[in-house]
Amino acid sequence: MFENYKTPAELLPSDPRFGCGPSLVPVEFLEKLAATGNTLIGTSHRKPAVKNLVKEVQEGLAKFFNIPSDYEVVLGNGGATFLFDMIALGLVKNKATHFTCGEFSQKWFKSSNSVPWIEASEVASEYGHGVITTDVEGSDLIATTLNETSTGVQIDSLPDVGDDTLLCVDATSGAGQVACDVSKTDVFFFSPQKVFASEGGLWVAIMSPKAIARSKEIEEAKDRYIPGIMSWDAAISNGKKNQTYNTPSISTIFFLNEQVKLMNEFGGYEKAIEYAEKKASLLYGWAAEKDYLSCYVEDDKFRSRAVATIDLDEKYDAAALIKVFAAEGSVNGIDAYRKLGRNQFRISLFHNVKLEDLEKLTKMISMAIEE
Ligand SMILES: Cc1ncc(COP(=O)(O)O)c(C=O)c1O
Repeated sequence: MFENYKTPAELLPSDPRFGCGPSLVPVEFLEKLAATGNTLIGTSHRKPAVKNLVKEVQEGLAKFFNIPSDYEVVLGNGGATFLFDMIALGLVKNKATHFTCGEFSQKWFKSSNSVPWIEASEVASEYGHGVITTDVEGSDLIATTLNETSTGVQIDSLPDVGDDTLLCVDATSGAGQVACDVSKTDVFFFSPQKVFASEGGLWVAIMSPKAIARSKEIEEAKDRYIPGIMSWDAAISNGKKNQTYNTPSISTIFFLNEQVKLMNEFGGYEKAIEYAEKKASLLYGWAAEKDYLSCYVEDDKFRSRAVATIDLDEKYDAAALIKVFAAEGSVNGIDAYRKLGRNQFRISLFHNVKLEDLEKLTKMISMAIEE
């Protein structure tokens, strides 16, 4: 199937990377990094060159998300997966309730559920269906995922929670272009290798005073062991000094900073959301128009504005077409999430993936199938 397909030159996208993470890091960022020569990479993260970079990231994100002045932007090593455990160990007092709708939200639930001295419960939605996050009596932490990267489901609202409850949002693949009032959350965290066009291995957490107070209360009680690298207190106090607890990847912070600047110059969060919306309506409109395509997420309000999941009629083999694209070097990264096992395209709508390139991609797929 598709052996004779070849993309005409005028349809070739300007960049072949349509993957949902790691995502497209602009080539200009790599050039800018190279231009720093011997002034940045290979210097100490406790010295001004790197500390100033961290400060710029913290201030840039605070501006972008318009966060309240008493919130802290904290960075650390290990990515969002590391935070799953760090939150379970250092922010859940007695009980967490997790709202899940796919692989990543379930992985976070499993982290909490494996800590013997806390209780964790799961409110699960079927894959491909939305989830409505609520406050839950008796839970001191509510965990929800802004954009479930495995299924392409985003949440459409956040609840008000009680004074003694923390609302924690894994925003890894939505942060930056899926609408969210960060000031309603207590921990809004992400890895930067998605919308923020950097590399993996880093986490960013935007924390409310309530979350900071909770972390202190738990650490000061000294009734549970928390490894030093998982100490919120250590992370927060290093953050205040524009540092990380241990040595970070400087290039990752550099790329993140470039993307935060780019997105602030683009017009900030509102404009980024608008651009994402345009790309989402292009893809979902195309899926609605073609009888061999269908949106995996039926309810439009839960359809992700960051990761589009589009099913292909079983008559055609999505994997075969993806192989043809890979062989000609035109498109990569559009396979369905591996554990989902669907005949599906999962396409990144992340900020740096251009609307024009998505238009070309839809034409390429349609041409391959219709001809
Ligand atoms: C929603 C979500 N949460 C968490 C993660 C894990 O991020 P990391 O691999 O940086 O730990 C991912 C990775 O794709 C994700 O999409």
